[in-house]
Amino acid sequence: MTTIQADIRQVRPSEYRAVEELTRDAFWNLYVPGCDEHYLAHTMREHPDYIPDLELVALVDGRLVGSIICTSSRLVDPAGISVDTLTFGPLCVHPDYQRRGIGTALITRTRSLAEERAYPAIVILGDPHNYCKSGFRNCVDLNVSDPQGRHPLGLLVLPLRPDFFKAPKAYRFFYSDAYNLDPAKAAEFDAGFPPREKAYSHTQELFSMTCRAHLD
Ligand SMILES: CC(C)(COP(=O)(O)OP(=O)(O)OC[C@H]1O[C@@H](n2cnc3c(N)ncnc32)[C@H](O)[C@@H]1OP(=O)(O)O)[C@@H](O)C(=O)NCCC(=O)NCCS
Repeated sequence: MTTIQADIRQVRPSEYRAVEELTRDAFWNLYVPGCDEHYLAHTMREHPDYIPDLELVALVDGRLVGSIICTSSRLVDPAGISVDTLTFGPLCVHPDYQRRGIGTALITRTRSLAEERAYPAIVILGDPHNYCKSGFRNCVDLNVSDPQGRHPLGLLVLPLRPDFFKAPKAYRFFYSDAYNLDPAKAAEFDAGFPPREKAYSHTQELFSMTCRAHLD
């Protein structure tokens, strides 16, 4: 598939619902039967860790086809000193426009904005297949772990200041509690969208394996 050029800019409040519809279309039945990511997009905008000017959309011929939403997260060193990092997600591209470079373009723009703001790293939880191309590495290679000291396969770090990870320090990563959802509220929110069948997909099995895999 050929790469497609998308216009990338900050989301407008009038587009919030379109982002939620896009997010539902992109995630539906992908990782679990149904999905909660559209509720996440909706609810995280109220959270103090949400960064409004780092919610971006991608448009092709005026159609909103991609979205990336960012929150503030933290790396904490053994002395308890905390440094702010950037985390993105949900990130999605409409199924009709995937594998044409739009996801990469959204990550690239987010990366430059993060560099402008002097973040030392972008740290995410996601499927490595989607992110190694953009320079993300597994946390174990940068001496970063989850709060329990483990190294999940999907805990990925994009270093933005190479010197930051050179010191022999072990960091623990804490993501925003904006990602902790109430499933009942998510179901209630989903009821406001057109009915859609929840179903099994083999991609859910891959996701389950990825979530349980660690590099320790
Ligand atoms: C993941 C997603 C945002 C990527 O956006 P995209 O526009 O399709 O990605 P790009 O075209 O920029 O491709 C980026 C690279 O990611 C990897 N990639 C993307 N989709 C992939 C897939 N289904 N399987 C394996 N690798 C994949 C490839 O390395 C790809 O580069 P390539 O096409 O040159 O091989 C998009 O596919 C999507 O919305 N998926 C559903 C929602 C989702 O999973 N979001 C991420 C949560 S972890």
